[in-house]
Amino acid sequence: MRKIGVAVVGLGVIGKVHVKALKELEKETEYVKLVAVVDQISALAEDIAKQYGVIPYSTIDDALRNPEIDVITIATPSYLHSPQAILAMEYGKNVITEKPMATTLAGAKEMIKKAEKNGVKLGVIFQERYSPDIRKLKYEIIDKLGKLYLLEAELKWYRDEKEYYLRDEIARSWRGMWNTEGGGVLTNQGIHTIDLLLWLGGEVEEVSGFIDNLTHPSIEVEDTAVAIFKFKNRALGTMSQTVSMRPKKYQNRKIRIYGDRGYAEIIDRQIASVRIEGNEEMGSSVLSKSDTISQDTDLHKELFKDFLKALSEERNFPIDGKEGIKSLEVIKAIYLSSMNRQVIKLPLEVNIVI
Ligand SMILES: NC(=O)c1ccc[n+]([C@@H]2O[C@H](COP(=O)([O-])OP(=O)(O)OC[C@H]3O[C@@H](n4cnc5c(N)ncnc54)[C@H](O)[C@@H]3O)[C@@H](O)[C@H]2O)c1
Repeated sequence: MRKIGVAVVGLGVIGKVHVKALKELEKETEYVKLVAVVDQISALAEDIAKQYGVIPYSTIDDALRNPEIDVITIATPSYLHSPQAILAMEYGKNVITEKPMATTLAGAKEMIKKAEKNGVKLGVIFQERYSPDIRKLKYEIIDKLGKLYLLEAELKWYRDEKEYYLRDEIARSWRGMWNTEGGGVLTNQGIHTIDLLLWLGGEVEEVSGFIDNLTHPSIEVEDTAVAIFKFKNRALGTMSQTVSMRPKKYQNRKIRIYGDRGYAEIIDRQIASVRIEGNEEMGSSVLSKSDTISQDTDLHKELFKDFLKALSEERNFPIDGKEGIKSLEVIKAIYLSSMNRQVIKLPLEVNIVI
C-alpha cells in the first residue's frame, strides 16, 4: 500500500509542531510519509526540509502540483486557511487545517461545500479533544453525571503585546487585526474551550455576550470576553475568557460540568474533581488514574493519526468541516450580541463579516 503523503504549509510556531508530529507518525506507523514543507520564507522551508529530509517549497501551488502529496496540513495565518484549503481541494488534496477553520462563516461554508463537491476529506485541528482528561470526562464520566443543567468555562491566559502580537514582521502582519486574525481571545486562544463545551454539552441555541479590548491598546481585537449560552438540551452555560491575566504564572483554564447526579471539574489538563451522588469513590479512582500528556506535539499527533487512519480506511473523521464551524458560529454570535446588545439565536442567518 502506498503511504499517505503529507505536506505542511506554514512553518511558524504551530507548523513546526505539525512537522515534528508527522515525522514521529511516519516512524511509528505504516501509512504516513512527510513529503514536503512549505513556507513563504524560502530559507525557513529549506532549513526545515533539510532537517527532516523532505522537499522545500515556497508556495502552496508548487506543493499542490506534486502527485506524491495526498494531504495538506494548513498552519498559516488564520485568514489564509479558507483560500488555501479551497485551492488544495481544487487539486483533489485532502486538507487538515488549524483552527479557526476560517475567519468568516462564509469562508468556512465554502470549504465544507468544496470538500463535499470534490469528495475529499476536510478536518479541523481541535487537538484538545485528544487530551486524556477531556476524553475521560467525555467517554467515562459525563454519562454518570446525569442530566446536564450547567456548564462553566474560564480561560485566563496572558499574551504580551510586544512578545506575541508585535513579536516580528510575520506576527505584525496578521495578529491582533480583525481581517487577518478574525478576532482576539475567542477566535484564537478560546475557540478550543468553546469547541470542548459544545462537544461535552451539545449544540448551543442562544448566545449573549460582551467583548472588549481592555489591556492591549496596540491591537484591534478583543482581549476579554464573557458570554452566556442556552444549550439545545436546555442546559445553561457561562464563559469568561481573557489574554490579560497577570501575574502570568497564574494562567489557568477551568471547565465545570454539573448534572443532576454529580459534577466534574477540569483545571488546565487535569481532572480536578468528580463527585457522583452515592458513588464518591468513583470520583477518587478517576482522579488517581488521570493521565497526562508528555510533550506538546502529543495531541496534534493523536489528531493527525486519527485523520490519516480515517483516510486510509475510508472512514469519516469526526472533526470535519461541519463540526469545526460550530465553535466559529458561536463566536460570531458573541461578537454580534456584543455589537448589537442582543441575544442571538443560532443558526446565524446572516453572513457577518467580522
Ligand atoms: N491548534 C493550536 O493549538 C494552535 C496553536 C497556535 C497557532 N494555531 C493556529 O495556527 C495558525 C498559525 O499560527 P502560528 O502561531 O504558527 O503563526 P506564525 O505567525 O508563527 O507562523 C505562520 C507561518 O506561515 C507562513 N506563511 C504566511 N503566509 C504564507 C503563505 N501564503 N504561504 C506559505 N506560508 C505562509 C509564515 O511565513 C510563518 O512562518 C493560526 O491560524 C493559529 O490560530 C493553532
